[in-house]
Amino acid sequence: MPKSETEFVCQSCGWAHPRWVGQCSECGEWNSLVEEQIEQTTGISAASNKPAKSLSLPEVERLSRSFSRFSTGFGELDRVLGSTSDEKGVVQGSVILLAGEPGIGKSTFLTQIGLNMQLSTKKTQKQPVVAYLCGEENPEQILLRIKRLSNSEHKSWEFFTSQQIESSLAALTKLKPAFVIADSAQSFRSRTLTGTAGSVGQVRMVTDKLTEWAKKNNIPVFIVGHVTKGGGIAGPKVLEHIVDVVLEISGERTTDLRLVRAHKNRFGATDEVGVFQMTEAGMEEVLNPSAMLVQSSTAGIPGSVLAGILEGSRPLLIELQALVVRSQLAMPRRVGRGVALSRIQVLAAVLEKHCGLRSSEHDIFLSVAGGLVVREPAIDLGCAVAIASSLANKPVPREIAFVGEVGLLGEVRSVAFGESRIKGLKRLGVSKVISHQTHNTVVAVLKELKLIA
Ligand code: TYD
Ligand code: MG
Repeated sequence: MPKSETEFVCQSCGWAHPRWVGQCSECGEWNSLVEEQIEQTTGISAASNKPAKSLSLPEVERLSRSFSRFSTGFGELDRVLGSTSDEKGVVQGSVILLAGEPGIGKSTFLTQIGLNMQLSTKKTQKQPVVAYLCGEENPEQILLRIKRLSNSEHKSWEFFTSQQIESSLAALTKLKPAFVIADSAQSFRSRTLTGTAGSVGQVRMVTDKLTEWAKKNNIPVFIVGHVTKGGGIAGPKVLEHIVDVVLEISGERTTDLRLVRAHKNRFGATDEVGVFQMTEAGMEEVLNPSAMLVQSSTAGIPGSVLAGILEGSRPLLIELQALVVRSQLAMPRRVGRGVALSRIQVLAAVLEKHCGLRSSEHDIFLSVAGGLVVREPAIDLGCAVAIASSLANKPVPREIAFVGEVGLLGEVRSVAFGESRIKGLKRLGVSKVISHQTHNTVVAVLKELKLIA
């Protein structure tokens, strides 16, 4: 009989150590090891030496015909998930990890997808179509949410409350639902391991079991995964390579804008972004995000500037707001919301050195209106103009949008996909785009706007 053994698994990277140490030798994390039982194996039997089966190309081709997609009911999400020539959305039998901070709207979103699915498959199937594995909330709470989100009938939902993944999967195999929601990966456990639910070993095993089941039954499974403080999905990043698609919902909880991105997608590109708004009635698609991000009421106020960014392959118009005021502090403040602090510091230095705009005695506050976080250097020019506009206390005309990276020498640099960005912005109603195509330096831009003499 194999002797029972334990190992110490790092909860941050999943590395197993034979004995306890204070620091993980793989990722360097301190105090991250938890004792877990090693899965019992029965040793290598003669049967496992059987030659492996292979598939010929025609066989693979025959198999791939069953590889079809169905819509989630949200065009914005279907675009992120990818498409083939005639179908878009979720691939049958795929496993999708939906990650995001607690309270961002994961359960709400999946419930809505389930409701949409139910509408599209109701006529063809008699079986319950949506199976919900409830690990975090009880079925009553989920029913309340379903009722809030839809007033049609909800007979085709089936709830599973078992924490043990094997027994839920056995029941699912009998039920053959059209769609499975597992909420969340951290709240189930496998009977093959001893660790508590939520430990790295368990989370990985639970995801493994769900994936195996999805492939075998050709039924799509959505798994909820929490993003931890460090930004990792489900604690360690160990789940990312198991699942087919990793979607992340992001957005500030204080605002209602939610962006859905694919970090990994075995069935499509990862450069698309779905834009949603969290409302009373759940997540709603935002078909024209620029209209939501740019308010007309701030036109004509010094410090407000429009800039063009790319979210995925789609150009977006955003509003940058700068507030530059005389500082009371020996070390003036630089505060950014949605913009990196280091960019503000660099731009303030460039404005001082190359444009003669001194801000060393001023506090600079800079934000992207609407709660968006922008990491692209393409907003540099817009930020510089916004700071100059607030400092000079002169407004910038609303019909102009700015696109361009600002170099340390005060030059306006070209940005990726500049041409399509500018075209897209014009489609959004901007009549003039200032970029590296129109001006070479920040000084020239500020002079034309009459922000400096
Ligand atoms: P939830 O989906 O439970 O978040 P998660 O599963 O990611 O932890 O919901 C998050 C928030 O959304 C919650 O604070 C309430 C809010 N909400 C709405 O604004 N509108 C709605 O229709 C619903 C159902 C929830
Ligand atoms: Mg939830």
